[in-house]
Amino acid sequence: MVEPLAGLHEVRTWAGKYPVPRDVFLEEAASAEGLLTMITETIDLELLDAAPRLRIVSQMAVGVDNIDVGACHERGIEIGHTPGVLTETVADTAFALLASVVRRLPEGERAVKDGSWGPWDPFWMTGSDLFGTTIGIVGMGRIGRAIARRASGFGMEILYSASSEKEDAPGRFLPLDEVLARSDHVMICVSLSDETVGLIGAREFGLMRKDAFLVNISRGPVVDTNALVDALGAGSIAGAGLDVTDPEPLPPNHPLLGFSNCLVIPHIGSASTRTRMAMGALAVENLLAGLDDRPMPAPVAWPGG
Ligand code: GLV
Repeated sequence: MVEPLAGLHEVRTWAGKYPVPRDVFLEEAASAEGLLTMITETIDLELLDAAPRLRIVSQMAVGVDNIDVGACHERGIEIGHTPGVLTETVADTAFALLASVVRRLPEGERAVKDGSWGPWDPFWMTGSDLFGTTIGIVGMGRIGRAIARRASGFGMEILYSASSEKEDAPGRFLPLDEVLARSDHVMICVSLSDETVGLIGAREFGLMRKDAFLVNISRGPVVDTNALVDALGAGSIAGAGLDVTDPEPLPPNHPLLGFSNCLVIPHIGSASTRTRMAMGALAVENLLAGLDDRPMPAPVAWPGG
């Protein structure tokens, strides 16, 4: 994946199965002008202080909440990321999660495997519907819009909340509380920031309908995990589908995994091979452009810019 860089720049890669250990990362960053990072690498003041030559951080992900964007800005360090190329894949995952939890597919599969599948029974394993329901999309960016396109194919009514009304967005713009109160399915698509951490907590679960489902494909900390456990425990929502959790990885004994109506998958929203290759290629292009003082194809906007 990094071949386009080799020959033009000295490239050092970490090929371990697990993310690069922090001490190795700090040591290697000391001489680096560019870094190609994943969401597992924290770019904070400690790292920036250890990397005096750093000019470019190129992240192979759309979310950059692991990067102190403000501090990079202050030091003139440009950041690239990989929006666009993963939008449709993440929206597919969001819909797969929603369909799975609403129609109880994991529970059904468990019943087949554990032998509890008996004669056909008209009301066994009945779930809810997708078609003709109302979806509430929290965050109407690229991924929110791609989810909305899928939702209209399912004949859903679309409501959304966002920092402001989007002129060209499908659906009806409403305050978050109303979106939560009216929707059969709530899709969390906002990026993680100081404004969105804990956005969905006990108060918000209290606003949701008892028959509503929550799907989170953004970042775990946007949803207050303890409040979600309480809401599922009290039956104040119908279920949840999570591609992201707080913490990650979620320990196998975590209370969220004790609910049959909570489906957790391991942060694989963009994990089609084609999309991951496209993300890698874009991250390399961003890095090359930044190192050559050319405009990056996908820069992260400066804060407030
Ligand atoms: C993955 O979570 C991403 O932000 O691309």
